[in-house]
Amino acid sequence: MKFSLFISIFTIVSVQFGRAQSPIIPTPVTHVFVEGKIDLAEQITIKTVNLSEKLKDYLVGELENSYAISTKVDSLDGLVEFKRIANTQKDFYSINVADKITITYSSDASCFYAIHSFLQLLQFEEDHYVIQKAFIQDFPNFQWRGLHLDVSRHFFGIDEVKRYIDLMALCKFNVLHWHLTDDQGWRIEIKKYPKLTEIGGFRDSTLIGHYNDFPHKFEKKKIGGFYTQDEIKEIVQYAQDRFITVVPEIEMPGHARAALAAYPEYSCTGKKLPVASEWGVFDDIFCSKPETIDFLKNVLEEVLTLFPSEYIHIGGDEAPKTNWKACAKCQKIISENHLKDEHQLQSYFIQQIDNYLTSKGRKMIGWDEILEGGLSTNAAVMSWRGEAGGIEAAKLNHYVVMTPTEFCYFDYYQSSHPAEPVAIGGFLPLEKVYQFNPVPQSLSNEEKSYILGGQANLWTEYVPDIESAEYMVYPRALAMSQVLWCNEKPTFEVFEKTLIDYQIGFLKKHGVIFSPALFYPEMEIFPSTKGLKIHFKGTAGNDKFNVLQKTDGNETNEDKILGISDTLIFERSIVSKNVHFEISPDETYELEHTPFDLKIHSAIGLPVKLLTEPNSKYSNHGELALVDGIKGHRPWKGNEWLGFDVDTISWIVDLKKSALIESFDLGFLDAQGSWIYLPKSIQLYVSTDQKKWTLLPKQLPVENFHQEIKKTGRYIKVVLISNNKIAKGFPGEGYHPWTFVDEMEIKFK
Ligand code: ACM
Ligand code: ZN
Repeated sequence: MKFSLFISIFTIVSVQFGRAQSPIIPTPVTHVFVEGKIDLAEQITIKTVNLSEKLKDYLVGELENSYAISTKVDSLDGLVEFKRIANTQKDFYSINVADKITITYSSDASCFYAIHSFLQLLQFEEDHYVIQKAFIQDFPNFQWRGLHLDVSRHFFGIDEVKRYIDLMALCKFNVLHWHLTDDQGWRIEIKKYPKLTEIGGFRDSTLIGHYNDFPHKFEKKKIGGFYTQDEIKEIVQYAQDRFITVVPEIEMPGHARAALAAYPEYSCTGKKLPVASEWGVFDDIFCSKPETIDFLKNVLEEVLTLFPSEYIHIGGDEAPKTNWKACAKCQKIISENHLKDEHQLQSYFIQQIDNYLTSKGRKMIGWDEILEGGLSTNAAVMSWRGEAGGIEAAKLNHYVVMTPTEFCYFDYYQSSHPAEPVAIGGFLPLEKVYQFNPVPQSLSNEEKSYILGGQANLWTEYVPDIESAEYMVYPRALAMSQVLWCNEKPTFEVFEKTLIDYQIGFLKKHGVIFSPALFYPEMEIFPSTKGLKIHFKGTAGNDKFNVLQKTDGNETNEDKILGISDTLIFERSIVSKNVHFEISPDETYELEHTPFDLKIHSAIGLPVKLLTEPNSKYSNHGELALVDGIKGHRPWKGNEWLGFDVDTISWIVDLKKSALIESFDLGFLDAQGSWIYLPKSIQLYVSTDQKKWTLLPKQLPVENFHQEIKKTGRYIKVVLISNNKIAKGFPGEGYHPWTFVDEMEIKFK
């Protein structure tokens, strides 16, 4: 009680001084600025009574390597003094920058956090570092601040994993969820089963391009790798020295192709299949027979000797039940144990693993599918398919880590900019990450206490190397660190300014490859009387740039250099033309020229009335999206498409006059790997008064749908009928398919 009072007094003081923008990310609970600065010399003295050798070495190393400041460690006096204190909030620390710098800490972890905050206070001025006088108090809000790394789809060597951990430490993450096994590679040496890595650690070929591009093409080259047990121990220790717990994931019963390539006897069919070369979900999963359970317990026995973590992740996601249904052994277990179906069989499987881990003093965590068929006694749940699994588990008094795809999947696109590298799909810009709240508001206070925290996941199907991994993770990880550390985080605008003023420089100092999406100017598009009005808007304070406009690839009289404040007007045109913009930004951000493409056609800016609402996740620009001149990317990238997840979708477009309608074009996305399918049918109606509608002859939907019309009318009604369930054997089987539409072109006179 006393403690929180102390905090609030300082919060009030910080308002008085008026400088609210702490350079530190994640933002400390309190950061009060005081008049004056300390100049740091090239050598500083540090008083480090009781500081562990490892922490001392870490601090000295960081100061020397990243700041060129050498240190003298002294037990009696120092410019920087560390003091251990007791009886505080967990992982509390404070930094008082007065004439000297006093750092208090309550645990080794909090000392480590204090060191990172202290380093972020150092600002370079002219020819030396200075620190603004201040008082800081801080402690984390959530106990699970996770970042995940999939090393199965692409293998990352131990130095690369260490680098990943180093950068996690800068952001005060404390859990590395290490996804070590999957269909495309088994990465952890298990001495009892050497073929797991000899065979399961490598694949002969790998899918090239996107999974949604057909026909699939492969690079025929053996790739892979694995970590020896000594290397695993080295990584675990390395992370532990940075106060990061490594939680290993050993996938079961699904995502088991690599293991089963090595030991097919633990599948239902016994068929020898290669380690998977392409992405997706496979029917070949571990059989539920007792021999498999024994095999997995033996694997886990070795895993437990390598990982001291409280939690062990056992996967549990995306396990098709096709083979279990056809397997006599699996069916026998169902009947002998009076199980209702294969979902209960999965629960039965997982419960045996849970019992085993519990008997060894560990806790099991799995993806939210482990709720289906009944949650095992001691399991914690990682909620990825939205919040629902986490809510259900918390209501059952089970612990939860929140990692819903919508906010936490760092394999999604971070902008719809043409320069973005190919990614799995989805759209997760920085601001969306920042909006994430791991605690569902529908829970009671008691239920909320089961939310351990949250985590961002990096699946690596489309992340072939560590440079790409950094690009996908930063700066989004900084937004996630705010979500997971701060009890009350500043507004996104303040966060964005902190990134620009301090943290981008900090990332550069550490050589981090990060996405510049934050700096891309936005094109704002509005309907105008005869077409579209376009305005370029700087983001993140990046408001100094010029726009070069080119039409149909040629310099024409219309081409010009525009200033940032210019507004462009484009009129509908029966002869369509392509307009290309090149934005040259301010040099400060070292950005390449940014291209934008627009198609001016006969329907731009026409009023569209959506009779069916798109899903809020894919509704950017609303109805204008269909006629804004920006065609949805293929492969699906970002937010240009309108996405629906209902059976019947319809809208009406008003041509604003009765006209002879020549033709109608509409783009659909067929991206089955992302559960996006063509609709079953498209029906077009024409009307002059919206009362009497004439149905046009039906044509089958295709990706670039075109229909000749040759009828007079003012309104067109579009009705799409989609399947209500994805068919068996297709990605997303049983779920409602998505229908994605973009850019509707209508020729009329
Ligand atoms: C998952 O993304 N399959 C957990
Ligand atoms: Zn079986």
